[in-house]
Amino acid sequence: ALQVLRTVDEVKAWVASVRREGRRLALVPTMGYLHEGHLSLMREGRKRADVVAASIFVNPTQFGPKEDLGRYPRDFQGDLAKCASAGVEVVFAPEPSVMYPPGYQTYVEVTEVSQGLCGARRPGHFRGVATIVTQLLCLFRPDVSLFGEKDYQQLQVIKALNRDLHLGGEVLGMPTVREADGLAMSSRNAYLTAEERQRALAISRGLQAAQALHRAGTSDGVALTEAVRRELRAAELREDYVELVDAERLTSLSAVQPGQPARLLVAAFCGATRLIDNQPIGG
Ligand code: PAJ
Repeated sequence: ALQVLRTVDEVKAWVASVRREGRRLALVPTMGYLHEGHLSLMREGRKRADVVAASIFVNPTQFGPKEDLGRYPRDFQGDLAKCASAGVEVVFAPEPSVMYPPGYQTYVEVTEVSQGLCGARRPGHFRGVATIVTQLLCLFRPDVSLFGEKDYQQLQVIKALNRDLHLGGEVLGMPTVREADGLAMSSRNAYLTAEERQRALAISRGLQAAQALHRAGTSDGVALTEAVRRELRAAELREDYVELVDAERLTSLSAVQPGQPARLLVAAFCGATRLIDNQPIGG
């Protein structure tokens, strides 16, 4: 049966028992309102470890003052049923005061890979992500933690902090799970009206078009990003950014080079909802 843990002491006791039994531990951090993308991480965790823990915590420090913290979608009972079906043994669902008690003053800053892209448009966002993920990795000390490539810059931030702070476990990135029509699954898709949901397809369509262009021989960054922008414009989505970057360092590239893995990253507003997606190019 699924256990719900609410406090740091409960987590410490549970982790100690897992260790005593010599079991391998996987951790899947989430903000809840779970979908198949989250569940794919949990199922992979089951394959790579003996026991899977998930966290469900809408982390206030990663939201900007004008962002959607107050209306982030929630369905805790539904989430617990999904976790159970995906083979999760324990869900850690703390109140904000458990992770950020009075007197809390420690924040984690990952400098280079946090800088551009979403980091430039959402000041403080990756500091909040890095801080909560560091707390969770320190508490659980998982053998493996699993994150989605859907949030590609976030994945690079977490890989960097895991390496730099010697946390020891493996940080595993998993492919983006999509709806049948190509839209990347996201808890925030719940904000979209039916009409916006249709227009949002321009993002994955644009990335597909760029990937096809590259396979047909185009390596120029402007040509590849323009293929994405054309789709965004046609669907009247407002671009936040479209960038071709080095797949690891996330530095901007003017062209795809043979043998150098690159990635196209997109953020765009569909009505009031900000959506992100990305696709590997070359490499
Ligand atoms: P959340 O958006 O709930 O996502 C939790 C995990 O699921 C992240 O690793 C994310 O990349 C992954 N994920 C989301 N959509 C996915 C999809 N369509 N396919 C595959 N994986 C997907 O990301 C966060 O929460 C938070 O920032 C968190 C890391 C939990 C820190 O608060």
